Amino acid sequence: MPDGPTADVSRETSAPGPEEGAEHDDFAAEYGDDPYDGLSLNDTPIGAAAHRASQVLHPDSATDLPKPTTRRVITIANQKGGVGKTTTAVNLAAALALQGLTALVIDLDPQGNASTALGVDHRAGVASSYEMLLGEIGMGEAIQQSPHNERLLCIPATIDLAGAEIELVSMVAREGRLKTALSAEVLDARGVDFVLIDCPPSLGLLTVNALVAANEVLIPIQCEYYALEGVGQLLRNIDLVQSHLNRDLHVSTVILTMYDGRTKLADQVAAEVRGHFGDIVLRSVIPRSVKVSEAPGFGTTVLDYDPGSRGAMSYLDAGRELAARTATSGVAAETGVAGQSGVAVERAY
Ligand SMILES: Nc1ncnc2c1ncn2[C@@H]1O[C@H](COP(=O)(O)OP(=O)(O)OP(=O)(O)O)[C@@H](O)[C@H]1O
Ligand SMILES: [Mg+2]
Repeated sequence: MPDGPTADVSRETSAPGPEEGAEHDDFAAEYGDDPYDGLSLNDTPIGAAAHRASQVLHPDSATDLPKPTTRRVITIANQKGGVGKTTTAVNLAAALALQGLTALVIDLDPQGNASTALGVDHRAGVASSYEMLLGEIGMGEAIQQSPHNERLLCIPATIDLAGAEIELVSMVAREGRLKTALSAEVLDARGVDFVLIDCPPSLGLLTVNALVAANEVLIPIQCEYYALEGVGQLLRNIDLVQSHLNRDLHVSTVILTMYDGRTKLADQVAAEVRGHFGDIVLRSVIPRSVKVSEAPGFGTTVLDYDPGSRGAMSYLDAGRELAARTATSGVAAETGVAGQSGVAVERAY
């Protein structure tokens, strides 16, 4: 089993912001005016980044992650908008794929951002999560392979999905349509180890379908003021789904996103989230990084766009940590810390 990260903040997040400048000063003091004289390529910052990038893109198969004993289906949810749900879905999936596992991202957000970031076709008319939810096509017809990695798969969302919230209301078994559509046969045939479902920023029927189809919930929390606003409501909804529709569901993972080490606030939010959620919070923290936000504009993940960057390394660490945990670890939504802390969290904010 590979080593998980040990630090509170992943190795790539340990020296963000102004400390980077300090790092360079130390470097100059140590190596003088011609800092690159006599050094191997890996000793320079750029060389080290290139070395990391090469390791990311050409990993040693000996470091492949262990396959989960049973396929893990994880819904990535937070009704607060812009907290990093999609970014986390696509980059975690890419991180798992780069480390030897097969990951399928189901884009359940009509915005189609996950489909864009994975570089798959999601123009109107393309077989998508919409037709799959309506039962018009089987899931096998909707799966596309990301051009960046053969083990990275996606069921795209098209603009048609925008009407689904309303169309689903009058349908039979409206909350369980995604679960019904998930075909074990197709997933087995494609060798899928992880299914990551990217939700829209709401607690409507699309998110409920995702919660019914999954065993685990992963909640991204942005290291900003009001970060925990609404998390209590999300946890209560998870409780409801758990007690009425899906006994297996539990909040297995919380991930801190857009961490800015220059601000005290980021540390305060991180400490508070860890205080409330305990061990289910991944030790790897995703830094605020321009590279992470630029990657989708190029139809790709940060792991492909800039594999040696801090953002890429932090998602790689997070993927490793997620895979090292078992599907059943975490906290049961109905009884555990998460449910209670959610209420406390909401009061606190
Ligand atoms: N670590 C990061 N560093 C910098 N920018 C980031 C980071 N993570 C996400 N972003 C940017 O923040 C914005 C919101 O991220 P994202 O789309 O992943 O959030 P979301 O929760 O899926 O949003 P929505 O609720 O609209 O679906 C995007 O522009 C994204 O590129
Ligand atoms: Mg999104």
